Amino acid sequence: MSDVYPMVETLRWSGDWNGELVLLDQTRLPLEHVDHTCADLESVWEAIRSLRVRGAPAIGIAAAYGVCVGVQGIEDADEDGFFLRLDTVVKRLGASRPTAVNLFWALQRMQSCAEQMRGSGSTIQIRQALLEEAHAIHADDRQMCRAIGTHGAELLSDGMGVLTHCNAGGLATSEYGTALAVFFTAQEQGKQLKVYVDETRPLLQGARLTAWELTQRGIDTTLICDSMAAQVMREERVQAVVTGADRIAANGDTANKIGTYGLALLAAAHQIPFYVAAPTNTFDLTLSSGDDIPIEERDAREITHGFGKQTAPSRVAVYNPAFDVTPASLIHGLITERGLIAPVNREAIANLIPGGADAR
Ligand code: MRU
Repeated sequence: MSDVYPMVETLRWSGDWNGELVLLDQTRLPLEHVDHTCADLESVWEAIRSLRVRGAPAIGIAAAYGVCVGVQGIEDADEDGFFLRLDTVVKRLGASRPTAVNLFWALQRMQSCAEQMRGSGSTIQIRQALLEEAHAIHADDRQMCRAIGTHGAELLSDGMGVLTHCNAGGLATSEYGTALAVFFTAQEQGKQLKVYVDETRPLLQGARLTAWELTQRGIDTTLICDSMAAQVMREERVQAVVTGADRIAANGDTANKIGTYGLALLAAAHQIPFYVAAPTNTFDLTLSSGDDIPIEERDAREITHGFGKQTAPSRVAVYNPAFDVTPASLIHGLITERGLIAPVNREAIANLIPGGADAR
């Protein structure tokens, strides 16, 4: 598809199977556009952990390329040595962030790709196959985001006000986003939307990333503090809420950036439909409900010293969960690349994704 608007290049592989992962460093946006190169396992781990690359699908893609980076430099190893190293790499990357299931989905896909070649190829051939698999994960994401955009745009009409939280845009995926893909596609269909963006405390993914992506594409964008959403709804400025997701349990309970649950409660109180846009690899059908989703807790300094300035007394206790879980009952529909799941319940999810994300 040719776009008249600039596309985000969230991450790319540079070189052959001995290459490097290059990320657009999201901690520097929106003021600085700086590439960050990851040439070893620890730098990929650090980039994911510190949110240089973030957003569930982008974390998965970065981890897939991270495996390719991590198995470099062991040319002398025999096959057993190679698989031992692969195991170490997968475990290390899997310990970077706990909530987004796309990370574990991608690592598992990479590991099965290598396992299928065990005993039948050289370690160099396995590494070549791993790079092809990482490229395939990257390419699949591009397609899934386009399809999510198409399905989601049907729910929006010209002139609508919509609200989103955090960043589920190109920066959180390969290039086009999930929640923002819905807005981008609606715009390409000629629908004019007015998008309200929660700034998304404490790390401001809404202000720094979503507002940047939307304004880049000429979409009518209004930034608000998270605490203003209720008033915006009361004033009838928005007719729908669309967010992304980090992990969706088998019953539809959805983990997403902290503040999403509150937004869903507010939307219900104002009879505003609340949609979640996510590819099927964000579903974790091994978890019966959202109670089982691991919630990442991050450093207190993100709250007490946001962006370098101390804004709280030194010894205050801090609780900093990075995600929350929105119950399925508050979600009007799950917008996936395979279509809309609505109403959201265990049966509807099992019907659309019968054997899990990889069953086509
Ligand atoms: O901590 P982050 O910035 O990785 O959190 C990201 C989100 O919560 C996104 O909404 C989610 O990953 C969906 S991205 C398409």
